[in-house]
Amino acid sequence: MKKLMILLVLAASLLTISVAFAAEKNTMAAQDTTATEDSGHAAMQAKMAKMEGKDIYKSMCKACHGPDADAGEYTPMSLIMDQWDEFFADTFAESHKDVVCPKDETKKVTDVFTPKMLKKVQKFCVDHAADSEQPMTCG
Ligand code: HEC
Repeated sequence: MKKLMILLVLAASLLTISVAFAAEKNTMAAQDTTATEDSGHAAMQAKMAKMEGKDIYKSMCKACHGPDADAGEYTPMSLIMDQWDEFFADTFAESHKDVVCPKDETKKVTDVFTPKMLKKVQKFCVDHAADSEQPMTCG
C-alpha cells in the first residue's frame, strides 16, 4: 500500500513538472514570434534604407500603383516635377496615412517609409518626371 502511495506522489509530481515545462515552452514560443516580427520589420527597414529610389519605387510604390491598380497607375512620368515635389511635401502623408502596407499588413504605408527613403523616392520621381530630361516609367 505504501508503495502505491509513493508511486502516486511520484506520478503527480512528474505531471506537474511536465505541465510547467509545457507552459514555459509556450511563453517562450510566444516571445519568439514577437521577436521575429519586430526584427523582421527592422530588417525590412534596414534593407530598404540601403535601396535606391528606383528600387524603393519598384518594390513599394509600384505594389499599389502598377498597371490597372485600384489606387491608380503612377510612374515617375505620370506627373511633372512640381507635382512630385508637392506630392512628397504634402499630399503623401495625407493620402497614404490610412493605407495599409502591402508588405506588412500591421503597418500603414506612412509608418514604413522613413523620411530618408521618401527623399530618395522623391529624387527618383523628380529626376524622371514627365518634364524632366529623362522621363521614365520605372520598368
Ligand atoms: C498600400 C498601397 C499604396 C502604396 C504602397 C503607395 N500608395 Fe500611393 N496611393 C494609394 C492609394 C489608396 C491612393 C489614393 C487613391 C485615391 O484616393 O483615389 C494613392 C494615391 C497616390 C497618388 C495620387 C495623389 C494622391 O496622393 O492622392 C500618387 C501620386 C501616389 N499615390 C504615389 C505613390 C508613391 C510615389 C508611392 C511610394 C512612395 C505610393 N504612392 C505608395 C495606395 C498606395
